[in-house]
Amino acid sequence: MRSGSRNTLIALALLAVLGLLAFWLLSMPRPLTAADIPRHTADAANGERMYQAAGCISCHQPSPDLAGVDASVPAGGAPLETPVGTLYPMNLTPDPETGIGNWTDLQFVNAVQRGLSPEGEHLIPALPYTSYVHMKPEDVLDIRAYLASLPPVKSPEHEADITALPLIRRGVGLWKWVGLDTTPWQPDPSQSETWNRGSYLVNGPGHCQECHTPRNVFMALDASKAFQGGPHPEGKGRVPSLRGLIERGRYTDAADLASALQYGEVMGYDKLSSGGMGQVQRNISQLPESDIQAIADYIASLE
Ligand code: HEC
Ligand code: HEC
Repeated sequence: MRSGSRNTLIALALLAVLGLLAFWLLSMPRPLTAADIPRHTADAANGERMYQAAGCISCHQPSPDLAGVDASVPAGGAPLETPVGTLYPMNLTPDPETGIGNWTDLQFVNAVQRGLSPEGEHLIPALPYTSYVHMKPEDVLDIRAYLASLPPVKSPEHEADITALPLIRRGVGLWKWVGLDTTPWQPDPSQSETWNRGSYLVNGPGHCQECHTPRNVFMALDASKAFQGGPHPEGKGRVPSLRGLIERGRYTDAADLASALQYGEVMGYDKLSSGGMGQVQRNISQLPESDIQAIADYIASLE
């Protein structure tokens, strides 16, 4: 072999090693530490409200093979189709063996707001931590307190059958550099208290943008097109835009939009059932009217 081509090979091998090293370093987990968690007396009633706004049950519903477990109990194990394959979101009841009974608050906050497992693995962003990251950590701790108040259910973990899942998880770590914006939610002082409450519920726990905002080439939410609608999770048609709903005559005013979110299609509204929106609407309907109105006021203001 001529020394020129040998040098090229060595250079390429070095580059590959450096590339792997960079991949490894850049994809390292960056968890919150105990110092990031505020001192907080948990409020399980607020936790239940946040749990409904966040729609945890939509994905953590009990597996069909769990006999006698009510569908409203987040015992987990039901299949969830995601772009990387089928996952089985886990048991969120306080069962110490198969649920989160033995988790620390820090582990819980890291899972929900940073997409990290207690073992430090990156979670697939099918768990919408990309929105939950903007929540107040106090509200996440309150969800934990609410979950701890539920009766424990034994619901063994179903392993996802996805090839190269560990490598995909590591790739998610790299993706977080572009896809995970950790800025906390900020109120807009020029807007009313109700509007700000709505903005928080929509952009934090409600994770409405995960479906209603299109993604860029990196599969990250495209902030310049926020709420303009996106591809339909079921493949056909589009997720509708939430901009200009009043101007376009979809709803007469914010109160009409609030009643659509509260009652759904049974009250004669349409476009509120497919692609996961039916579950979102049912979860939202559990919220106090003031919160539903706040969500509607905020959405109605998006021109
Ligand atoms: C849109 C679906 C979806 C919603 C909504 C959702 N999750 Fe999940 N969750 C998932 C998926 C999928 C996983 C598994 C991710 C993985 O294995 O990488 C998961 C995993 C978890 C885990 C386990 C992490 C681990 O280390 O195994 C916890 C804890 C969790 N979710 C809590 C919550 C809470 C609390 C809420 C509501 C605030 C919530 N999830 C809402 C889909 C969801
Ligand atoms: C899992 C994906 C998903 C999430 C999360 C989601 N939506 Fe939707 N949304 C949809 C889809 C899909 C439709 C269209 C449903 C249909 O046509 O049956 C829709 C429709 C709507 C409509 C009706 C639009 C119209 O033209 O009348 C409103 C209003 C709405 N969503 C509000 C929200 C709000 C508020 C949130 C957050 C609390 C939210 N959505 C979260 C998927 C989602």
